[in-house]
Amino acid sequence: MNRTPARAWQALHDHIPDLKKLHLRDLFAAHPRRFEDCSLEAAGLLLDYSKNLLTPRTLELLLDLARAADLSGWIEKMFRGEKINVTENRAVLHTALRADARDRVLCDGRDVVPDIAAVRNACCRFAESVRNGERRGYTDKPFTDIVNIGIGGSDLGPAMACEALTPFGAPHLRMHFVSNVDGTHISETLKNLQPDTSLFIIASKTFTTLETMTNARTARQWFIQKSGSPEHVAAHFAAVSTNREAVRAFGIDPASMFGFWDWVGGRYSVWSAIGLPVMLAIGERNFRDFLSGAHAMDGHFRSAPFERNIPVLLALIGILYRNGFGCQTHAILPYDQYLRRLPAYIQQLDMESNGKHVTRSGTRCEAATGPVIWGAPGTDGQHAFFQLIHQGSTLIPADFLAPAASLNPVGLHHTLLLANFFAQTEALMNGRTEEEVRAGLAAGNMSPSDMDFQAPHRVFDGNRPTNSIMFKQLDPRTLGALIAMYEHKVFTQGIIWDICSFDQWGVELGKQLAQAIIPELDGPDPVATHDSSTRGLINTFKRWRSE
Ligand code: F6P
Repeated sequence: MNRTPARAWQALHDHIPDLKKLHLRDLFAAHPRRFEDCSLEAAGLLLDYSKNLLTPRTLELLLDLARAADLSGWIEKMFRGEKINVTENRAVLHTALRADARDRVLCDGRDVVPDIAAVRNACCRFAESVRNGERRGYTDKPFTDIVNIGIGGSDLGPAMACEALTPFGAPHLRMHFVSNVDGTHISETLKNLQPDTSLFIIASKTFTTLETMTNARTARQWFIQKSGSPEHVAAHFAAVSTNREAVRAFGIDPASMFGFWDWVGGRYSVWSAIGLPVMLAIGERNFRDFLSGAHAMDGHFRSAPFERNIPVLLALIGILYRNGFGCQTHAILPYDQYLRRLPAYIQQLDMESNGKHVTRSGTRCEAATGPVIWGAPGTDGQHAFFQLIHQGSTLIPADFLAPAASLNPVGLHHTLLLANFFAQTEALMNGRTEEEVRAGLAAGNMSPSDMDFQAPHRVFDGNRPTNSIMFKQLDPRTLGALIAMYEHKVFTQGIIWDICSFDQWGVELGKQLAQAIIPELDGPDPVATHDSSTRGLINTFKRWRSE
């Protein structure tokens, strides 16, 4: 075994030229049981990683990396509440949010499990009273529309989960999510709402985020104007935040405020009170199933040996492509319309966590870190960008996700969807040789000269790697397990790259500069500050907006 990270990295790099000589087609031909050997199930998910460019030796070298980075030690540190968010000196305890009620999780010597249960119970009571019509608006009508105002982790998780779990949602509640500070987002949302049946949730960990606070103020102004009195605000506005004082200052009734803790990162917060819209949509029982799916994945991640550990394997395979093959991006391709927003959710989770170039101790990373995450649902993507995945000059590893059963079993739709799901990974793996292409063209009676011209365009090299992730159906439990799987994948990669996956200093500079620019946009006078580009743009904006 390569015991130090440096040796483990070197051994992996030394092995890459051998891998580059292989073709997935040959790996399958040589090992008829490759699927059986390279697939596993946990927490209701099946991972098939057989269509990846790896051999048993590759896996061994990747596992060495995990061992050399002391992954087991770091997993325990996370679960036990040690302050592994080193730059913010915080614990990382989103796993405690879905822990068993009998577990004890200590943070600064205090068991956080009872605190979590108390907030969760309050959230559930609130959600239930809205769902069953006990809690009503100022004209005594039940609520029909829930508007979550938040951004980033305070938006993407609840928005994605509410959409993913639409069939489990209360049909009498319409969910809306407003995130962008572009006035269009809040205006278009408010246009369709009645004040007396609308409930606003202001979701912000810090309660200082410019976009959220601006949208929240606009919503409150609209509400007061439409309802005719600020007195009604208390019944129509709730808040989810760690910043009690700012919530109070905003004028939200403390009884409608739900807290969480600094050890819950924004992009890991859907399990906390930030999940309130999800509780409102799907109800307490389903929300608890959502948590239990994540908890099952936590148990698997914490206890399964690395070679049989889904998040660890996904992380190691990702590292193989990022660091061994220089891949810059990774695609998330859910074959499920309800998971339409999963790519955007994983994008924040992965890119805000591992988009770093400095190690935990502050030196520059030697290895390339987090890839660009992107994607869209199949089969839409097939008719848009799959061309590049099949025949482009860049290798793009991808995760394909699909449920075995549809929650909308109409006609042949699901069979057709899944046929495409299976066909795409097969095509990406096998490709089509020139020989096969020529045989096909010859069968169509193409002339030899046309064939010479056409054949190169129609050859697929194949050898393009994919993971397939299947589950029986998309329900709250499965969704919980899926999200937790990606959380732990990201964690594992962060540990191996030796970066702090739990801060996000990279978003600060732009925020600060925007604050400085806001007053400069007042009035018609041109500014004389900034570089020539920024100055030119600001002054053109000022001229044009007044024309
Ligand atoms: O700007 C990035 C970020 O801090 C994310 O990490 C976070 O999810 C989002 O902004 C929203 O932050 P808050 O919940 O504090 O409004």
